[in-house]
Amino acid sequence: MSAAVVIANRSRSSPTLGEIVDSIIGTNMVHAGAPANSPLDLLQEAARVAKLAFVHSNEAALIEVHDALRRLYDIQLSPAHSAEAAHQFNPMLMALRAEIEQLWIAHELRDISPPSPRHGEVANVIRKSWADHPSFNHEIFDFMEHHASREQILLYFRCDYALNMRFYDLIALACVAVGEEAKTEVVANLWDEVGCGNPAKSHVRLYQAVLDYIGSTESRSDHLALLGWEGLAGYNLLMHFALARRQQYRYIGALAITELADPDQYGKLLRGCLRTGIGANKPGVLDYYEDHVTIDALHGDGWIENVIEPAIRLRPTFAAEVMEGAIARMNSTKRYWDWLLKQMKSM
Ligand SMILES: [Fe+2]
Repeated sequence: MSAAVVIANRSRSSPTLGEIVDSIIGTNMVHAGAPANSPLDLLQEAARVAKLAFVHSNEAALIEVHDALRRLYDIQLSPAHSAEAAHQFNPMLMALRAEIEQLWIAHELRDISPPSPRHGEVANVIRKSWADHPSFNHEIFDFMEHHASREQILLYFRCDYALNMRFYDLIALACVAVGEEAKTEVVANLWDEVGCGNPAKSHVRLYQAVLDYIGSTESRSDHLALLGWEGLAGYNLLMHFALARRQQYRYIGALAITELADPDQYGKLLRGCLRTGIGANKPGVLDYYEDHVTIDALHGDGWIENVIEPAIRLRPTFAAEVMEGAIARMNSTKRYWDWLLKQMKSM
């Protein structure tokens, strides 16, 4: 079920947390009265819904909290002229975010028992954790390679929107206050995001070319409304790690997994496209995915060697946090791909 469906089903006299966020910002006048609730009432309501979501695994509550978090994180990267920007440090919104995050992150990390690699061991430990994890070689990519219809693969492209369109900012945030030894590697990733200086090859433009090719005219909110809580949670996890200074070690671990996983998975996706004729009449239209097969094959090792290893050498006690971030990212991609595969098969 998508976020939009749940919001639509909810009583109009009882706004969702996401609608309350919008009403505080002033972008949703339907519930303009909501901010008049006391801050305490709002935080109690957030705690109630977060408990339903993370303690009781209530599906509607999971969508509601992740929809609210997605809006709260997007405020932090909003354009200067937007209503959101004026509320970047709104105390009520900051408190709301902290209230949800507290339960959510504890829940995300609860079942993770991370190894704590020593300096020099990280590459082996990360690769082993990844190879042992159920997200490794996820069946969605084999399904797309061998069995999926054209329409099923197009759904994959459409659901990819939220993170693909944010990746430049996510890497830019990884550049902030990073260790001296890591700077070159992180900036090399950022340089790739902008097509190594060729605007036509920027990753946002390459991904937009995929959407144009498949005839997608959906807006950002349309793309977000496609997602179940699993997709929103994957987006939120990287946004939370990227934005919270205290999560920097978990963030570099999470990004390592993204780099390691892309080449094989996108190789399978591209063979599925070839099989179903996607891109056959327009050479180069799948360059977004083609480029990530080659670029990320190089970046995976570079990231471990030049970003994670120096961080662990300087602060060995944070090695477990790096691994926690990596495993949390694997868990979130597994949930998302399970959901997406189910969506594809139900088409
Ligand atoms: Fe990229």
